[in-house]
Amino acid sequence: MSKKKIVVAYSGGLDTSIMVHWLKNKYDAELITVTGNLGQTDEIENLEDKAKKTGASKSYVIDLREEFLTGYAWKALKASALYEGVYPMACAIGRPLLAKLMVDIALAENADVIAHGCTGKGNDQVRFEVGIQTLAPHLEILAPLRSWEFKSREEEIDYALENNIPVKVNKEKPYSIDENIFGIAIECGMLEDPTIPPPEDAYMITVNPKDAPEEAETVSLEFFKGVPVSINSFKLSPLEIVKTLNQLGGKHGIGRMDVIENRVVGIKSREVYEAPAAVLLHNAHSELEKLTLDKETFRYKQNVSNKISNLIYDGLWFSPLFDALMDFVDKTQEHVTGTIVLELYKGNINVLSRSSEYSLYNKELATYTEDDSFDHKAAEGFLTLYGLPYKTLTKVNKAAESQRALV
Ligand code: ARG
Repeated sequence: MSKKKIVVAYSGGLDTSIMVHWLKNKYDAELITVTGNLGQTDEIENLEDKAKKTGASKSYVIDLREEFLTGYAWKALKASALYEGVYPMACAIGRPLLAKLMVDIALAENADVIAHGCTGKGNDQVRFEVGIQTLAPHLEILAPLRSWEFKSREEEIDYALENNIPVKVNKEKPYSIDENIFGIAIECGMLEDPTIPPPEDAYMITVNPKDAPEEAETVSLEFFKGVPVSINSFKLSPLEIVKTLNQLGGKHGIGRMDVIENRVVGIKSREVYEAPAAVLLHNAHSELEKLTLDKETFRYKQNVSNKISNLIYDGLWFSPLFDALMDFVDKTQEHVTGTIVLELYKGNINVLSRSSEYSLYNKELATYTEDDSFDHKAAEGFLTLYGLPYKTLTKVNKAAESQRALV
């Protein structure tokens, strides 16, 4: 029988480095590592080399940044997908794309197995495995971290040293960090105590709002059909837009979130996020929707956004309901075109201006001046009918109660 081929989702960190070596020993398999570049700042450059030194026969590092933004982040933005009202889900939208990458390479390489380095109590195992099961049901999935013998980071480091596995063994930050261009998730260490605020060293790309510049800064964001196309009138690529806004927002202390959230596996966790670009984009986009969506679509979309957020968070990106709801969202975005000007100041975002050729705001209807064109008389008839059910209800209840009092 030919050797098993295992495609390994590889970040180059301690867990996945050890995993490559461990899998090779345990299964006598051929190992192919795959790393998706979603804009994380860890060493991406020397990963091929490192993977091969650890035991891989082949190693892929694929730049997915543009696809991540246009195919994943922009969808979440159009859907106003914020999990539990706040988290822009950088990590949750990255996993389906990475699952797809693993599957694409597993199929191209004719591999039998995909292995990942997620733990047994996180959300990412769910997103990876449901994604893989949906896209390629025949593939076997291995998650060594759920079953292997190492009980601590120290034991993993010992194993790495014993087996000459190149890992950076320094006193790193005590946090577990997941990072990509759309945002950073930080947990563990002192953050596990929800009674204390996050230590300042937990944050990587934002300043404390207290230390942000004393001068406010203005930024103008132009959208076309629900997605950003220019900053301060300069047309930019999606990657340039997100990089620029991360930098700008970070400088003004924008995009920090400290939340308790409900995980898929039923526990609550405390997570700290930094996502300046995502927060700025969501703010501007929702402001533009307020201007351009009609009332019923606006209200209905709030329910859809909530459902889409839950589907994404829960690992159901590749599902019929997600696709159907995204079709609805795309339809709503046809006129979400225009410009929002924001002022950034010490962690705050103020809207300075909103404009759109599709703006449904009509000053003649809204004004309280003599230019008013609203038909005040029409309100009388409207209210006669609008209040009718409640008027009827109160009358009926009163009559019934007095009837009862008599018997
Ligand atoms: N809670 C976030 C999510 O489920 C992030 C998970 C990974 N977090 C981390 N710090 N490693 O999407």
